Amino acid sequence: VPSKSKVVWEKFSSQTNFERDMYFYGTFPENFTWGVSSSAYQIEGGWDADGKGPSIWDNFSHVPGNIKNGDTGDIACDSYNKVEEDIYLLRALGVKNYRFSLSWSRIFPSGRNNSINSHGVDYYNRLINGLVANNITPIVTLYHWDLPQALQDIGGWESSTLIDLFNSFADFCFQTFGDRVKFWITFNEPQVIAWAGYGAGTLPPNVNDPGSAPYRVAHILLKAHARVYHTYDDKYRASQGGVIALCPNIDWVEPKTPSDPRDIEAADRYLQFLVGWFTHPIFKNGDYPEVMKWKVGNRSELQNLPSSRLPVFTAEERDYIRGTADVFCFNTITGHRAVAWGLRRLLNWIKEEYGNPPIYIIENGVGIKTKSDVDDNTRIFYYKTYIDEALKAYKLDGVNLRGYNAWSFMDSFEWLNGYDPRFGLHQVDFDNPNRPRTPKRSAVYYAEIIRNNGIPL
Ligand code: NOJ
Repeated sequence: VPSKSKVVWEKFSSQTNFERDMYFYGTFPENFTWGVSSSAYQIEGGWDADGKGPSIWDNFSHVPGNIKNGDTGDIACDSYNKVEEDIYLLRALGVKNYRFSLSWSRIFPSGRNNSINSHGVDYYNRLINGLVANNITPIVTLYHWDLPQALQDIGGWESSTLIDLFNSFADFCFQTFGDRVKFWITFNEPQVIAWAGYGAGTLPPNVNDPGSAPYRVAHILLKAHARVYHTYDDKYRASQGGVIALCPNIDWVEPKTPSDPRDIEAADRYLQFLVGWFTHPIFKNGDYPEVMKWKVGNRSELQNLPSSRLPVFTAEERDYIRGTADVFCFNTITGHRAVAWGLRRLLNWIKEEYGNPPIYIIENGVGIKTKSDVDDNTRIFYYKTYIDEALKAYKLDGVNLRGYNAWSFMDSFEWLNGYDPRFGLHQVDFDNPNRPRTPKRSAVYYAEIIRNNGIPL
């Protein structure tokens, strides 16, 4: 049963390539929120500073051969020591928000609330206070992949014990920072955690079990997300008044032959397995998409396929999970298949499929394999076309788009690829121990977009 993706493909089927690729130009409403994004392991450095515990990424990157060029996040952009400078750059950009993540093992070195590292708490307090003092809204991710090693040692996200432990960490963060942080994200790209970490096994903890581990892990991540949402709802929302969501990654996909129902089904299946896996339970009925149940779940016996690999939620769990996001956040990064107009269609799909929720693009950017490109026309072109497509979705299609964040604030540790490619609006000189930052031309361009609140003619 194809989802509302069909509506979107049909809507755009008569569009000529000229209409599709033409710039629209225009501005967003006054309260639109522009920002830039980063994550703890990718920029902070200070991997063992002041009592921080090791994470799975510290240990993984320390094994020679795991990361391109032998790079590690030990120093990264040294943001742990550059709070003031980073805030200065954010001010220069004119952003309204800054999305970053908290390193769990910097706050709880062993992953548990029996050992709190006050230096870690101080660091985030300084950052948050600096942002608030400069009228920059913090958007805070609780988990951007750097699990405390101590929790991996007890099974990582394959263990349901982590639901409680993640909830304790989140509870502490709400209690400690929630007076100033009003926008929380539980998991960054949960599909990557489940698939790359436990299926393909390319990212730590490198479990290579594509058959069923990702589904078991996703089941736990969904329960952990819902648990944290309810903690916020029950204990903090009334006094703190913020929003909370999770942040999947989404790439738009087009059916190869839009008139062929098999291609439509295949493309829709892609969207449901990639995105609906997490968003269908949360934004729809508390349960996995039908197509997943047929292909890998408890409906598969009917088709004589291998027995179920998809865990089943109880009715009570479905009720608990349904509705546990106040806004719809997502990341979308360029890829070989992706073209800028895919963003408009993707936004239309979210509108149709999930009832037009408030939408925030939390990461959007392009990685360029180069060291010294301050004069970065490709990135400028990328932002112009993607933001213009976002404008079309907002102005022409009525998509409830509320905010846009560029990935990334600055060049940073790009996981398995080390410090190459570069995604930043600011260049960071990784050969210099002081890690100086230099705004690229794209930073100037993005600041202009923010000042104009869009791309005026
Ligand atoms: C999304 C991830 O959240 C981020 O950590 C990563 O650097 C970018 N994609 C680019 O690959």
